[in-house]
Amino acid sequence: MPSSGPDLAAPPGDLVAAIGPAARDRLGRLEGEAFLARLERVHPDVAGPLHTLYGARTDVAALVRELVGAALDAAAARPERLRVLDRRREVDPAWFQDSRTIGYACYTDRFAGTLAGVRTRLDYLAELGVTYLHLMPLLAPREGPDDGGYAVADYTSVDPRLGTMADLEDLTADLHGRGIALCVDLVLNHTAREHEWARRAAAGDPAYRDFYLVFPDRTMPDAYERTLPEVFPDTAPGSFTHVPEMGGWVWTTFNDYQWDLDYTNPAVFGAMLRTMLELANHGVDVLRLDAAPFLWKRLGTDCQNQPEAHLLVQAFRGLTRLAAPGLLFKAEAIVAPEMLVQYLGAHETYRPECDLAYHNQLMVLLWSSLATRDATLATRALSRLRPEPPSTGWITYLRCHDDIGWAVSDTDAAAVGWNGYEHRRFLAAYYAGRHPGSTARGALFQENEATGDARTSGMAATLAGFAAGDPAAVDRLETLYSVVFSFGGIPLLWMGDELALGDDPHWADDPEHAADNRWMHRPPMDWAAAARRHDPETVEGRVFGRIRALATARRGLPALRSGGSTVLLEPDDPHVLAYRRQHPRSGPLVALANFSDGWQSVDLGLLAAAGVAAPAHVHSTRGRLDLGEGRAHLPPWGFAWIATA
Ligand code: GLC
Repeated sequence: MPSSGPDLAAPPGDLVAAIGPAARDRLGRLEGEAFLARLERVHPDVAGPLHTLYGARTDVAALVRELVGAALDAAAARPERLRVLDRRREVDPAWFQDSRTIGYACYTDRFAGTLAGVRTRLDYLAELGVTYLHLMPLLAPREGPDDGGYAVADYTSVDPRLGTMADLEDLTADLHGRGIALCVDLVLNHTAREHEWARRAAAGDPAYRDFYLVFPDRTMPDAYERTLPEVFPDTAPGSFTHVPEMGGWVWTTFNDYQWDLDYTNPAVFGAMLRTMLELANHGVDVLRLDAAPFLWKRLGTDCQNQPEAHLLVQAFRGLTRLAAPGLLFKAEAIVAPEMLVQYLGAHETYRPECDLAYHNQLMVLLWSSLATRDATLATRALSRLRPEPPSTGWITYLRCHDDIGWAVSDTDAAAVGWNGYEHRRFLAAYYAGRHPGSTARGALFQENEATGDARTSGMAATLAGFAAGDPAAVDRLETLYSVVFSFGGIPLLWMGDELALGDDPHWADDPEHAADNRWMHRPPMDWAAAARRHDPETVEGRVFGRIRALATARRGLPALRSGGSTVLLEPDDPHVLAYRRQHPRSGPLVALANFSDGWQSVDLGLLAAAGVAAPAHVHSTRGRLDLGEGRAHLPPWGFAWIATA
């Protein structure tokens, strides 16, 4: 196809005519017509990106036909129970935006041993109101170090230690029966060097060699590395690994055993699309697109967030939706604030991309506010973010399996009179307990002497002061989570936070983990502690009760649905983070959070200006709200959600 381009906006009449009989024949009349209707709808979102990505290299019309054919195969193989779910989700495409959506993320083995084990713990999740379960990487990894499962050796089978594909399907059936969606990681930037594609490449098969980025000598790697940041400078310096069987240097952004795929090759795109379609047919509802910013490389850049990385995700989305219209994409894009919302499709015009993305900025700024006892930086930085498209949503969270990178921009820091570099260093020191007065007991991760950059490891409880026995820790954790639950989006609990679970004291005993202290905040679930969750005399009881109360309150508040808007307010008290949350289906709700050790208050005029003229308590720290003297009063580390009476 000439790269001057077809009319991409035109209905794909020829394609529909060509594929129509097969679609009706294989899917039946009704399903076939639905498939074709979807094809007409998504065609511009697929053909446009594919044309830009591959037009110079291949016949794009033929490529689209082939990929749509793969989607048709998947549609024909899709189990009926999933098609029933698809039907519901096409009727209600905003299903995941509901304020009842509450997320929980964990490693299968650490939470319940196996996938079958997870099925025995669903009552526990139901108690927290969980409707979205993210199980960390569960596909068969390489043997030996596997970066927590992010080095996949086989996308078609489950890690045998966790179970089988049949177990995964049984689990999804149970989850769906309880109204819980399952999110699974798709590691699409790289494979393990043991993956069959990599083995074939190393054995000299040219078709598979083209799946990876290989350079005969250091010329190009050196040229790229002039502008490439290092992800793991301590343990995996550089971004290329010399592999004699490949005859040169292989691109390895992460560890040397994780080989980056070459997405300039349309065969790689096709292979990954088939992987996505298969996972969807096993019952996975949400794919977490691991390391999405890294998919496309460009000389002279940091090789992240390239426009082509977005086009790839857009094309994947359109094509997967043909067969699995309810499938969602979640971007793992831990990037600078101005780069983030594009993963939700907010480009110069909206282009459907991911439905969900981690709100990394909010996470970082919550911890920053805690350390400084000051919410002004958070207010400033969050109000600068472009709003997310209304059909999408954030994942709001406090902790996850990764380290915290202190992504406070120099611009935002300067706006409140701080030095960005110094502030980032302060945060790393504070959370490692290396700052006077800090009761955080985390650790530095990947301290980079060249740049002075350091990240942070540690469970939320450890960072909030539990490990040091800080009496304010319970209130702090609750207030941090009050923001996670009310900022808008899907709140995602990291396993154990609901019990203030601490770090794994044995994390370094495993020699495969000893060099990577992210394992400290990946502890096994403490079910003995969980058994105390209903006893208010215990720490677990207090924390669980408060997290559960946040979840319960949230469920009844349509203002907290995704697809609404969050506006940062500027209270007359720098310790208080304040925002108005609103959704077309509800009146406004104002949330306040006190990031200090003392009582604070805000003028009720702030609430009135935000549309809450007759303030009434919705949910707050002590079950009541003190509105004396024209101000809303917050106890130390307290919070309040306030709406109009
Ligand atoms: C993502 C994962 C991280 C992993 C990396 C490489 O950032 O969250 O744990 O190391 O991708 O796959």
